[in-house]
Amino acid sequence: MEEIDALLTESRTFPPPPAFAAAAHGNTRDPWSRADADYEAYWAEQARALEWITPWKQVLDWKPPHAQWFLGGQLNVAANCVDRHVRGPARNKAAIIWEGEPGDRRTLTYWDLFVEVRKFANVLTSLGVHKGDRVGIYLPLIPECAIAMLACARVGAIHSVVFGGFSPESLRDRMNDAEAKVLITADGGYRRGQIVPLKRNADKALAESPTVTHCVVVRRLAAGVVDDTFSQMQEGRDHWWHRLMEGAPAGHEPQPMDAEDPLFILYTSGTTGKPKGIVHTTGGYLTGVASSTKLVFDLKDDDVFWCTADVGWITGHSYLVYGPLANGATAVMYEGAPDWPEKDRFWSLCEKHGVTILYTAPTAIRAFMKWGDAHPKKHDLSRLRLLGSVGEPINPEAWMWYHEVIGGGRCPIVDTWWQTETGSIMIAPLPGATVTKPGSATQALPGYAVTLLDSAAKEIGIGGGLLAVTKPWPSMLRTLWRDDARYVSTYFSKWDGRPDLYFPGDGAKRDADNYLWILGRVDDVLNVSGHRIGTMEVESALVEHPAVAEAAVVGRAHELKGQALCAFVTVREGQLTSLALRDELREFVARKIGALARPDDILFSADLPKTRSGKIMRRLLRDIAEGRALGDTTTLADPSVVAGLKAQYEAQES
Ligand code: WT7
Repeated sequence: MEEIDALLTESRTFPPPPAFAAAAHGNTRDPWSRADADYEAYWAEQARALEWITPWKQVLDWKPPHAQWFLGGQLNVAANCVDRHVRGPARNKAAIIWEGEPGDRRTLTYWDLFVEVRKFANVLTSLGVHKGDRVGIYLPLIPECAIAMLACARVGAIHSVVFGGFSPESLRDRMNDAEAKVLITADGGYRRGQIVPLKRNADKALAESPTVTHCVVVRRLAAGVVDDTFSQMQEGRDHWWHRLMEGAPAGHEPQPMDAEDPLFILYTSGTTGKPKGIVHTTGGYLTGVASSTKLVFDLKDDDVFWCTADVGWITGHSYLVYGPLANGATAVMYEGAPDWPEKDRFWSLCEKHGVTILYTAPTAIRAFMKWGDAHPKKHDLSRLRLLGSVGEPINPEAWMWYHEVIGGGRCPIVDTWWQTETGSIMIAPLPGATVTKPGSATQALPGYAVTLLDSAAKEIGIGGGLLAVTKPWPSMLRTLWRDDARYVSTYFSKWDGRPDLYFPGDGAKRDADNYLWILGRVDDVLNVSGHRIGTMEVESALVEHPAVAEAAVVGRAHELKGQALCAFVTVREGQLTSLALRDELREFVARKIGALARPDDILFSADLPKTRSGKIMRRLLRDIAEGRALGDTTTLADPSVVAGLKAQYEAQES
């Protein structure tokens, strides 16, 4: 509630700077008027910016909750992101300017990308990958990510990128769920000066991934960095990327794909222990990302666009790879941490590569703020002309700092709300047309129908409610991989008898100017440093530890990460609790899921607060974790449990 009040008192407004607006792609309400006048015609117009092999016969088929877009149309995503630029003026333009954490650099022009993607498409074919097959990608953030993704798209294979910070078990589960045929990985990657042992993790995962018959390994690590045993190549299964590429033919014809053919699966956390395989398609997805990249980021031919996300997340898919490349833009890609070797690494990258558009996350902005103005001040950031934010609500204080210290007061900020499921940005300003307010993602983009509803599907005017999307959109997820029932129940069953209403899981507030202020998740999903983590996943990991009887995980506010993970744990009979066990459990979860799921707090308790029917009262646990007065405890089976926990939590704090 405090947060809502703080947001409501925010009254600063920032109109687009006149010079920016004058040159912007969208500087009037015209795109909204056109979309409102004829929704399908608007999206058809956006789709026409792509290159189609066969034109579509029907723009939209909507049988709630299933949508199909651009039916009958055929295209190839790689041909759109690479080939057509090679035929035009962007042939020798930098497509990807890459920098590794140790400082090594590579620039790939569109022509270079064309050469590499075609060769790697032939490599995939030689490994038996055909249209519709699944290919896993588990790489550090290196240009091979984009090459591998585009090569999959070129042959019609469905990629499933797994973030390099995920554990072997997480990788294994994703490979098995998608029944991947091939995994593309690297010997290792660099993060904060350390080596991330990707191949070693992949070996562990592949030992229990029977469908994966081939593993392609990029040599990322310098010779001599690790000894020969670090990545043992398994005869017959494992192949060095560079060896396969040496022998690969140069020419390759892109596979014509139906607009509705899947382009990729990306796993994301939900409210159960099992991640969901979000399925995105070819025509609608590319239409959504290509159009939003151009409009929201006002992308121009000479821009240098840096989206700091990893390709392991949807932001990296949509705005590091597909969106910029579909527009023939220059994208910056950086492998490592923002504070390596010094806390000015981002600003040094911006200066060196002449970044004009920077797209990053509030959690990073808050860290930069804390590290102090001296780091950005050391660098010339005058080429920056637009800033973006994504992943979690941005607090007005961080917004203002971003605006003044990074943007020099002259760059508009686009706070962009969207999700893995939505594929592309849905709520955001158009920087040449929208007056922004610090902390508000403003309004739905043209072509998107977003509103606020109460639990009875009644529209909320001014005030708080549940975010809902009332019309299908091209880049929406089509289903969950091999689990359509969960697709229906998770996203289209919030309001009884209304399978046409999409529920994103977020709460929001609408102000008197019809601006939206996203408040965050209303389900058992947490957002830690802009990364989605399901509380159930962490609980399932904890109870696998032999010392643990029961666990409940909740989120609490965290100054830098947005939310922190707080786990309440009861141990088995006879098991003693200790600081050592606490540390062991934190590491246990990190090993099971990945470092991003490592709980910040672990609190041992003899019992957890439950209702008389045995349901854990998470609301009370959240009160305890946030140090608030306890809410209503009258439905508890044993009220003394929660009082004891609270006392214990407060003792630990002091
Ligand atoms: C959740 C989606 C696609 C972006 C990367 C995260 C939260 C995202 C914002 C924003 C407030 C935001 C929402 C959403 N979120 N952007 N601008 N303001 N909240 O993707 O892992 O699919 O998470 O991130 O809670 O539901 P994701």
